[in-house]
Amino acid sequence: LQAQQGRLTAEAQKEVADYLDVPVVKVHEVVSFYTMLTEKPRGRHHIMVCKTLSCALHGSSAVFQALQSELGIRPGEVSADGQFSLESVECLGACDMGASVQVDDTLYGQMDEAKTKKLLETLRIRTGA
Ligand code: FES
Repeated sequence: LQAQQGRLTAEAQKEVADYLDVPVVKVHEVVSFYTMLTEKPRGRHHIMVCKTLSCALHGSSAVFQALQSELGIRPGEVSADGQFSLESVECLGACDMGASVQVDDTLYGQMDEAKTKKLLETLRIRTGA
């Protein structure tokens, strides 16, 4: 449902709860706990930057700042053109590749400010933004 609608609305959570035959609150607990699930609208591309120690030691803060500056948005916001949303997350499971960034389902490692700008450029070209 999230892939179809871009988020899990209250109605979607009710539909899942009915399908699984569990109380809606149980579905809501899962949705509010896992960062890959969301109730809030996201951009066409959702960008997640790892903020955990290994990536922090490899410059994830600078990558995160560069993304905010380039996109003109803060964490949890969607860019004016609807193309990008941004959030910082806990470990993406690629600690040896820090600083790690995930865009939708694709993981990018050893990111720095220059690579981040290049990645945005590539994504913008792909989406025509
Ligand atoms: S600490 Fe960043 S991916 Fe694990």
